[in-house]
Amino acid sequence: MNEKIQALKQSFQQELENAKSSEAVEKLRVAYLGKKGAVTELLKELKDVAGEQKKEMGQHINQLKRQVEEKIAEQVEKIRAEEEEAQIAAAEQYDVTLPVSEEVGSYHPITLVQRELEEIFASMGFTIEDFKEIVTDYECFEAVNIPKDHPARDMQDTYYLENGQLLKTHTSAAQNAIMRKYGAPLRAIFPGRCFRNEATDACHENTFFQMEGIMIDKNISISNLIYFMKTMLSQVFQRDINVRLRPGFFPFVEPGFEMDISCLICGGEGCPSCKNSGWLELCPCGMIHPNVLKAGGIDPEEYTGFAFGLGLTRLVMMKYGVKDIRDLNSGNLKALSQFTHE
Ligand code: PHE
Repeated sequence: MNEKIQALKQSFQQELENAKSSEAVEKLRVAYLGKKGAVTELLKELKDVAGEQKKEMGQHINQLKRQVEEKIAEQVEKIRAEEEEAQIAAAEQYDVTLPVSEEVGSYHPITLVQRELEEIFASMGFTIEDFKEIVTDYECFEAVNIPKDHPARDMQDTYYLENGQLLKTHTSAAQNAIMRKYGAPLRAIFPGRCFRNEATDACHENTFFQMEGIMIDKNISISNLIYFMKTMLSQVFQRDINVRLRPGFFPFVEPGFEMDISCLICGGEGCPSCKNSGWLELCPCGMIHPNVLKAGGIDPEEYTGFAFGLGLTRLVMMKYGVKDIRDLNSGNLKALSQFTHE
């Protein structure tokens, strides 16, 4: 019996070396350890062995069994690693002779308009600031003169995190940090994604983009605000744009306005797009409230400034004639590429 055990050991070792795939190893496992496998058969033969020898042979066979099991497990792992490496190597190979795809990507319409605006404002001496999307209650509300329990908070219901922070409801949330960073005088724009708890429809989204701008210096007045907005809009729409101001309330500006632009479709004569008024509402703005300057560490006796909160998503809709705001966030390339493939 001892010879048999030795012979099995040798044949197993040899066959193992030849088993180079997972299937081959599995076959080997069945051949040795399966119900009718060589090692199993050997164990069955034990019953014919007498006394003392039985015990000794039993130990030998069990030792062989363990060795076979271990070696098979090792081999399985080795092959698995090799196969994985081969797969990675294959994936890295690509066919350089394939023809170039006709389908070329494009930027999202919001990105395009944002960059265009950034260029225009940069040419007028504004810096472009980046800001986070998760902000504190202080940044979003308190610092811009909206204390706790102020009813203006109702218009900007949003998503709160468990730690008390929130997704910013407007780009004005960056005003304080930017004032503190640069002090006065200051010219900056800060585009950003904003979030509000809205029921969505063709005109409303819970996720949208704004482009805020502030300019703070000595003797800044409403006429500076009108000048910058008119210049910017005329460049974006590539034609002379008329603007008008209506009173509007926002706690962080005083006085506050809604800025309308002459209707892009009818040029101001009145059409269904502008509900026959000749005007489109585009951009809330105003003179920065002294409390907001103070919170930003700027002396309101010495400096004044204007702020505007351009609805970037709205502007994109107007520029490209997008009828449903939801198309812009859909990730639907068919819907999006029609605006940007020229
Ligand atoms: N933050 C305001 C809003 O989102 C817009 C705004 C910005 C108004 C700056 C005035 C000045 O509703």
